[in-house]
Amino acid sequence: MYKESTNVVVKHLINRLRDVRTASNEFRLTIEEISRMIVAEALADFPTITTNINTWQGPLDVEMLEVQKIVLVPILRAGEPMLTGILQTLPYARSGFLAMKRDEQTSLSKLFYENIPDNLEDKTVLLLDPMVATGGSLIDGIDYLKGIGAKRIISLNILGSPFGVQKVQEAHPDVDIYIAQIDERLDENNYIRPGLGDAGDRAFNTK
Ligand code: PRP
Ligand code: URA
Repeated sequence: MYKESTNVVVKHLINRLRDVRTASNEFRLTIEEISRMIVAEALADFPTITTNINTWQGPLDVEMLEVQKIVLVPILRAGEPMLTGILQTLPYARSGFLAMKRDEQTSLSKLFYENIPDNLEDKTVLLLDPMVATGGSLIDGIDYLKGIGAKRIISLNILGSPFGVQKVQEAHPDVDIYIAQIDERLDENNYIRPGLGDAGDRAFNTK
């Protein structure tokens, strides 16, 4: 299943990302903020664990998210601000990394580096990539994680094309996608329209 956010605050923040006057620092901070909002939706029904804490009136049993069951995996480089944002909400979540680059001629993604925590079998992996254009990078990332044992994967994304989101769903119907917005279309260069340009370049001021 996929769930597109209906929150107007999220739409407002996405439109700040689209604005070319939004410079890299604000661009990254805005991605962080949107990511925190999406992760709250994605984990709304996540299992909790009873934990005893000390409050101002003494010990109290409270329900806390079972954070040790969560592994955050950004697809670098554009996924990095998503990780930074979500780690502010879940500072004790474990993180792994996939570094992938889409070839601009073929639009095929290539994996350059991975470092993922062991024992994914009983974890929920939150896979973080702001952009789902052809869907190729996300499909490859999911293939990789499943290949090393991941059973439950949730994809958190900011902007997608209808084509890309459909491709990911067809390839991996068991992966739930929480996406801030699905835009109109994929253009002839496999960029999302209206989109926001190249998310990695915008975030890290490289073009
Ligand atoms: C972007 C983006 C996705 C991918 C989406 O990364 O962050 O990973 O493109 O395109 P796709 O759905 O057609 O695969 P890119 O490969 O440009 O690398 P970057 O994060 O270093 O900019
Ligand atoms: N990658 C991006 O960063 N933007 C797009 O529109 C497509 C792929």
